[in-house]
Amino acid sequence: MKPIALTGIKPTGRPHIGNYLGMYRPALSLMENYLGMYFVADYHALTSLNDPAMLQSLVYEVAASWLALGLDPEEHIFFRQSDIPEIPEFTWILSCFTSKGLLNRAHAYKAAMDENLALGHDPDEGINAGLFYYPVLMAADILLYGSDVVPVGLDQKQHIEITRDIAEAFNRTYGEVLKVPEGLIQESVMKVPGIDGRKMSKSYDNTIPIFAPEKELRKRVMRIVTDSKRPEDPKDPTNDNLFALLQFFASPERIEEIRQLYVNGGAAYGTLKKELAELILSHFSDAREKFNTLIEDKPYIDKVLMQGAEKAREMGKPYLKAARKATGID
Ligand code: TRP
Repeated sequence: MKPIALTGIKPTGRPHIGNYLGMYRPALSLMENYLGMYFVADYHALTSLNDPAMLQSLVYEVAASWLALGLDPEEHIFFRQSDIPEIPEFTWILSCFTSKGLLNRAHAYKAAMDENLALGHDPDEGINAGLFYYPVLMAADILLYGSDVVPVGLDQKQHIEITRDIAEAFNRTYGEVLKVPEGLIQESVMKVPGIDGRKMSKSYDNTIPIFAPEKELRKRVMRIVTDSKRPEDPKDPTNDNLFALLQFFASPERIEEIRQLYVNGGAAYGTLKKELAELILSHFSDAREKFNTLIEDKPYIDKVLMQGAEKAREMGKPYLKAARKATGID
């Protein structure tokens, strides 16, 4: 049997090209050599998203994105996290092997706390325990199925380390029950700039959504921030968001030509933005078509996710059983 590559994506925003380059594409490229277990992490989303209609619709958008981008749900296991009742059960067991100090130091929790401190508030003001427990839930996601590798972006590296710590603590207590996974960290692709030049992220509202209607997608691309240089002025391509984004989608020859235009003068930002929009639309043209069909067929998505959840539960049961037995609960 092939080793397992597992990854989840939180349905808190519309999939954008930063997600694609940092997450979807690297994860999907493993499909040949691994059994892929990909899921929509809706329990994780609940730590920050409290609008039920929005959560529902984002679950479908994320699910349709995976399928449109090439995930084959027959060959691989594709499911929704909340369809696996073993997950919350396992989360509790694992929490008893998670040092609280480890969670105190988790980046997301620490950042929320630091923000409170900077404002002179109580350190835990407005922070729900779900956010604090986030890494334990994620460890359950990973350890339940005996995952071998976890392809994630650099921002998730600490979560993988915490998962490994938890598995090792459990195994130190009871023997080698849990498989300690490896992170497959995509360091280079994390530097996908958003339209304002900061890292592309839904929290900065600077994304280019992959499946937005064509007009909206073009508009986002035209809003990429550039300096006020004229077309004939020489420009430095190294710190330029537009150039950085073009590099992901243009052919190597074309990238070289554009580089020359930057350096020697002749690069008109408006024209290059239009070119980038065309490149993105053509890169995702099949996927966009599939997405539009899928998103209209929610019963189909539900069916795929249900079937995936059944397979995932079968995979998880032996590990949960072994963990329960080891602890003496079973
Ligand atoms: N925390 C991840 C993110 O925000 C999503 C996630 C949840 C995940 N569970 C996972 C990723 C398990 C990998 C493995 O992107």
